[in-house]
Amino acid sequence: MIIAANFKTNHTRVSTKTYMDKLAAFVEKEAITEDVLVFPPATSLDSYHYHDNLRVGVQNAYPVEKGSFTGEIGLEQISEFGIKTILIGHSERRHILGESQEEIAKKFAFFAEAGFEIVYCVGEPKEVREKGIESVMAYNLSQFEGIDTNYENLIIAYEPVWAIGTGLTASNEQIEETLGELKKHVAKPLLYGGSVKVANTKEILEIKNCEGILVGTASWDVDSFCEMVAIAKRLS
Ligand code: 13P
Repeated sequence: MIIAANFKTNHTRVSTKTYMDKLAAFVEKEAITEDVLVFPPATSLDSYHYHDNLRVGVQNAYPVEKGSFTGEIGLEQISEFGIKTILIGHSERRHILGESQEEIAKKFAFFAEAGFEIVYCVGEPKEVREKGIESVMAYNLSQFEGIDTNYENLIIAYEPVWAIGTGLTASNEQIEETLGELKKHVAKPLLYGGSVKVANTKEILEIKNCEGILVGTASWDVDSFCEMVAIAKRLS
């Protein structure tokens, strides 16, 4: 299973170090073999290499080695820390930061070419969900435009926009149906994300075709994130 923490715009360089040390000690002590991914903010990136299955990734980067792109980081900055994992297509980047599918596809192609492990996010807004599964799938599949879904180092995260940071989790039936449909199109590990917390981790991880979780809010506390990792271990 894959258990991933997306810090978004939370944690500092110092608190990320404390978090990572604690998480690494937990992974070691509990002999965790699940894949545990952490996406801290860019200012907190560093050479965190504790175990092969505990990996730090970037939440975003510009598809360039280096250059004049004010405010962005490129491959050179990421590579300094030996980072080879990236989150692409998160709904906050699509809907708040205005990233287009075309830009996302360019980013995907660049980091795939560089051999990165890519966690690629898709997910529909509330008004689409309300129209039913056909609309949901048409919307989600449109987010694969320009994306090489056969890329070997690809993980898909299904994160319904209306369930992110809202406390509203998609129902188990909605998750199962959507993941089942996605699996018909993309033969890659599928994660669920959207208001996952310790209390619902087990039931979500037990859903058919759900191979892990991408956690925002509830992952910012290292103890709850460790608890989610422990739940995944007990299930596998
Ligand atoms: P929340 O867990 O805060 O809903 O965020 C989910 C998410 O966006 C993870 O990428």
